[in-house]
Amino acid sequence: MIVRILVAGGAGFIGATLCEHLLLRGHTVVCVDSLQTGSALAIDQLRKFEGFSFIKQDIVQILDIGAVGTLDQVYNLACPASPKHYQKDPIKTIETNVIGTRNLLDLALQNGARFLLASTSEIYGSPERKPQREDYWGNVNTTGPRACYDEGKRCAEALVTAYRSQHQTDTRIARIFNTYGPGMQRDDGRVISNFVTCLLDKKPIEIYGDGKQTRSFCYVDDMVGGLIALMASDCTTPVNLGSDHEVSIMELACIVGRVIGKSVEITHCPALIDDPRERRPDLDKCRRVLGWQAITSLELGLRKTAAFFAKTQQAHVV
Ligand SMILES: NC(=O)c1ccc[n+]([C@@H]2O[C@H](COP(=O)([O-])OP(=O)(O)OC[C@H]3O[C@@H](n4cnc5c(N)ncnc54)[C@H](O)[C@@H]3O)[C@@H](O)[C@H]2O)c1
Repeated sequence: MIVRILVAGGAGFIGATLCEHLLLRGHTVVCVDSLQTGSALAIDQLRKFEGFSFIKQDIVQILDIGAVGTLDQVYNLACPASPKHYQKDPIKTIETNVIGTRNLLDLALQNGARFLLASTSEIYGSPERKPQREDYWGNVNTTGPRACYDEGKRCAEALVTAYRSQHQTDTRIARIFNTYGPGMQRDDGRVISNFVTCLLDKKPIEIYGDGKQTRSFCYVDDMVGGLIALMASDCTTPVNLGSDHEVSIMELACIVGRVIGKSVEITHCPALIDDPRERRPDLDKCRRVLGWQAITSLELGLRKTAAFFAKTQQAHVV
C-alpha cells in the first residue's frame, strides 16, 4: 500500500536518509524543511524519485503545505541536532521543538495521520543510571548551554503525550541515541565527523576533557529502520533507538585511526559544560516490541562514513 508521508527535517542528515528509505519502499514523501542545517544537495538527490516533493518552510510558522493530499503519517525530525548548531540560536531551538512540534501535531490531527517525534537520548541529560531505560526520568540542567535542546525535546515529548490524551492523536516517540554515517556535514562539530575529517585532512584530533566519556553510536541506515519500525508498530510510549556498543571517546579515536589507516595525533581541550559522562541505551524494549536492533558494526559504519567524507572532500577540491 502506498502511504503519503510528511517528513519535517527531511533535508537533514537522518531525515534525508529516512526520505530515501521511504521512497525506495514506493511511498509518497513530502519533505518540509527550512534548510537551517539541512542540505539542498540532499533534496536534489531525492528529486529523482517520482513520489518526492519538497516544501521549504519553517515549522515554527503556521504550516502551509498546499494541496499535497491527505497525509497518513507525519515524522518530525526538524531540529538542529549538533550542539554547535542548536546553541547558535537557543530561543529558536526551543521554538522549533515546542511551537514547531505543535504545528505538526495539529497537521497530523487535521489529517487523522500517525505522528512520530524524533526525541533524543539528551532528555536523560547527564544520566546517573546506566544503561538508560525508558522509565528513567533523567538528570538535566535546566539553565545550562544544552538546556534549549534537552528541555525543548522534553517539552516536545510532553506535548505529544498531551495531544494523545486530549485529542486522541495517534503518536509515537523515538528516543534517538548518537547516530552517524554518510550524509553528515563535515563541519557540524559532532565527534565522528570531527574525527574522520581531521584524520583525512592530516590534522590532530581534538578531545574534550579526558576522553573517558562514553557514547554508543548507531549507523544511520539502522536508525532509519528503527524509526520506520516504530511508526508501523502499536507502541505509543517512548522507545530508545540506538546501539548499545559503548565506547569511550579515546577508544573511538583509535578505531577511526585504524579504519582510515592513519596514525592519530591527539590534542586535549577543556571539557565541555554539561557534556554527559556516559551514554548507553537499554534496548530491551525496541528488541522486544519492534523486533528491531542495529546490525552495522562500528568498524563497517566508520569505513562507509570515511569513504563518504573522502568522496565529498574530492568533490570540494575539483
Ligand atoms: N543525529 C543524532 O545523533 C541525533 C540524536 C538524537 C536525536 N536526533 C534528532 O533527530 C532529528 C534529526 O537529526 P539530524 O542529525 O538529522 O539533524 P540535522 O541538523 O542534520 O537535521 C535537522 C533538519 O531539520 C531542519 N530544521 C531545523 N529547524 C527547522 C525548522 N524550524 N523548520 C523546518 N526545518 C527545520 C534542518 O534544516 C535540517 O534539515 C533531530 O530532531 C534531532 O534532534 C538526532
